[in-house]
Amino acid sequence: MFHDQSLFAALRKADQPIASSCLGVAVCARCLVRVQAPEGALSSIESVEARVLAGAGADSDQRLACQTFVLGPGVSLRTDYW
Ligand code: FES
Repeated sequence: MFHDQSLFAALRKADQPIASSCLGVAVCARCLVRVQAPEGALSSIESVEARVLAGAGADSDQRLACQTFVLGPGVSLRTDYW
């Protein structure tokens, strides 16, 4: 995984499908992914992401791939369309 890139950027770089209609600027919520990660392995949810997650009715295990950075090992993710 690329620690200096968002999950969205890393998935696109690896030619993996990730939905988007805003091209990764935290507007569309189409890049929602379900994540499992140890404490501290993901970047914190900032206010912009929190607002979009709330608006999308996201579950507590969902993050915006475009706003989430991997900071450590042990992260797994999935989407409903993979
Ligand atoms: S790509 Fe649109 S919110 Fe993440």
